[in-house]
Amino acid sequence: YQKYKHVPVLDYKERQWPNKEIQKAPIWCSVDLRDGNQALIEPMVVEEKLEFFNLLVKLGFKEIEIGFPSASQLEYDFLRTLVDRKMIPDDVRVQILCQCRQHLIDKSFEAIKGIKNVVFHIYNSTSTLQRDVVFHMNREEIKQIAIEGTRMVKEGAKNFDGNLWLEYSPESFTGTEMDFALEVCEAVKEVWQPTVERPIIFNLPATVEMNTPNVYADQIEWMSSHFTEREKIILSIHPHNDRGCGVAATELALLAGAERVEGTLFGNGERTGNVDILNVAYNMFSQGINPELNIENVNEIIEVTERCTKMGVPPRHPYAGKLVFTAFSGSHQDAISKGMQALHERNSAIWEVPYLPIDPSDVGREYEPLVRINSQSGKGGVAFVLEQYYGFKLPKEMHKELADKIQAMSETQGEVSPEQIMDTFRNMYIDAKE
Ligand code: KIV
Ligand code: ZN
Repeated sequence: YQKYKHVPVLDYKERQWPNKEIQKAPIWCSVDLRDGNQALIEPMVVEEKLEFFNLLVKLGFKEIEIGFPSASQLEYDFLRTLVDRKMIPDDVRVQILCQCRQHLIDKSFEAIKGIKNVVFHIYNSTSTLQRDVVFHMNREEIKQIAIEGTRMVKEGAKNFDGNLWLEYSPESFTGTEMDFALEVCEAVKEVWQPTVERPIIFNLPATVEMNTPNVYADQIEWMSSHFTEREKIILSIHPHNDRGCGVAATELALLAGAERVEGTLFGNGERTGNVDILNVAYNMFSQGINPELNIENVNEIIEVTERCTKMGVPPRHPYAGKLVFTAFSGSHQDAISKGMQALHERNSAIWEVPYLPIDPSDVGREYEPLVRINSQSGKGGVAFVLEQYYGFKLPKEMHKELADKIQAMSETQGEVSPEQIMDTFRNMYIDAKE
């Protein structure tokens, strides 16, 4: 471990994140079709991108980064197909990514012709490491790239008919000195001249997640409180997940003042992925906050995503994995059973069931088995399965005897299905009596 240096990023004492709790959904921007797609072993073809775009629209995304049309013919064609087939709803902003280079910016303007609402996203890398080993440029030279890029977009925008917003990302922000990140953003703002009605988006990416989530949040808070004309800025975050903390980093950054989140469905993206927007949104949902995304049918989201990306959703993925509403252990099954019963008896509007943070039916999972019976299950679980699957309330006196029998079966065969439990019950108590 001695070969890794601690990355010192901040030198200030006060930590006063403005929000103590997340109270409302941020502006969501899906980067599935760009950051997510560029990380696929088999990138999506146009038809797959079209289907994915439709899914994102259906989920309620109002900002969708569709790719890098000036650098990829496929992404150019995809964008033109969206336009030709009139697939972009009026209330959706199409976002395109572009480097700060004249010919790419020109080509991007060609690609976005006829689109009503566009976010033109330019970026350049600002971190100490990239300045040193990749670009061999000093701070001033790096800042000039951003300024020039902004000028080029401003010039091109004069001949563009739609509504065009600028997004600027100091790429590798998490490895950049805060005062320099601020200096570059302020210089971009000076050129662009945003207004309250047409704010500029500053997207501060954790291009590589380098630190604990609170440090990212501190960086966001620092930027948020040092920007001038804050009301003309939308502060966006773009967390990656290298330390496995993308969701936590997002939530803390929202507390620290971020207003917009870029991420992907199920966290697809470079290396360990971008932040999983669905995870953040379901977390909000499970705490009574409207996520402002239509995420009630997780099965459909999984189905389209898996088909288009050819990547599977892991069985323990929060809210979406196959196993997340399954209880294996007897004590859990028993508690779930009692919790469900209490909910029913009290006719409670508030979901409170042990071990089930949300009602599975809220995400379209009501038909999935909640309880599976194996050697870890207790007697409550067996009775619960009979009631769940067959509406049959097993008399209390029979709980232990039947559960012992099922447990013995599971020790030799593994999991016991609800049908086998019912058959065993019949054999023991009905057939035996006849
Ligand atoms: O991760 C990143 O920094 C990016 C930028 C292009 C925003 O994807
Ligand atoms: Zn990224």
